[in-house]
Amino acid sequence: MKRIAVFTSGGDAPGMNACIRAVVRTAIYHGIEVYGIRKGFNGMISGDFYKMESSSVSNTIQKGGTILKSARSKEFMTREGREKAYEQLKKYEIDGLVAIGGNGTFTGASMFSEEFGIPIVGAPGTIDNDLYGTDYTIGYDTAVNTALDAIDKIRDTADSHERVFFVEVMGRDSGYIAMPCAIGGGAEIVMIPETITSVEQVINTLKNGWERSKTSFIIVIAEGDEEGNATQIAAEVKEALPQMDARVTILGHVQRGGAPTAADRLLASQIGIATVEGLINGKSDVMAGIVNSRLVYTPFKDTINKKKIINQRFVRMVEILSI
Ligand code: F6P
Repeated sequence: MKRIAVFTSGGDAPGMNACIRAVVRTAIYHGIEVYGIRKGFNGMISGDFYKMESSSVSNTIQKGGTILKSARSKEFMTREGREKAYEQLKKYEIDGLVAIGGNGTFTGASMFSEEFGIPIVGAPGTIDNDLYGTDYTIGYDTAVNTALDAIDKIRDTADSHERVFFVEVMGRDSGYIAMPCAIGGGAEIVMIPETITSVEQVINTLKNGWERSKTSFIIVIAEGDEEGNATQIAAEVKEALPQMDARVTILGHVQRGGAPTAADRLLASQIGIATVEGLINGKSDVMAGIVNSRLVYTPFKDTINKKKIINQRFVRMVEILSI
């Protein structure tokens, strides 16, 4: 392995820069040249490559976003697009790739390495924490803390005005962001795709709480919940309980930004090192992750197809703690 390249793809996540930094410096430490590819798979196709030095990643560990930019590439999903990308990698004499991203990134990476035989090791970079093969993904801890900070502020105004707040958090098809936000934010109800919570249950919980003299409520809803989004759920509840003053807050992309927490910087640095050392040791088609404090490499096909189960104990915790 003489020359590798690194790129970020899919939704950005706080800590991606710390991971890029670790990749660049680990490669240089082992005497390997490293190139950065801008804008994910799109940049691989168009040849947006540049040589990175140790100084290219100075003063980046604390920064949100990704210095390499990111994109969701439709072209890479075509055989033609992947052929173009392969030509660029040949031109730059790249022997291995580090892909920082989520499920979509690893799906593309897996196809590509199978077709063209380029070794690829992935780093789990997504706020959603929905990847099998790692307890936490890079960016998750920061996103949860950002959302929690917002919920604390919403609680102040909810309490002052005696209102019900429906707070929608990100997470795509998973409730990993919603769950700690609900527990840490003292929510009365959490709605996640992994468990069925009907609107009727929400109405009953609110009614019961109201009768027990609760005056304000926080309901955390994961954007992928099977009952619909926060606006739809709030509309149904308002119809049944017109006496309650309800508001909806969609936290949205604010959850993707900001300086990474200490936990995310540490995780990103550990995983960044592991991706490069994995490539050196002949690994490919795998994602580096941390499970029970141990470094593990999980085949892309498992990270894509296997579901990381959310702990049902947490669902019960919300119920107990919100009485
Ligand atoms: O995967 C990260 C994520 O922020 C999801 O939580 C969300 O569903 C999605 O990306 C939003 O994507 P976009 O930024 O393309 O709208």
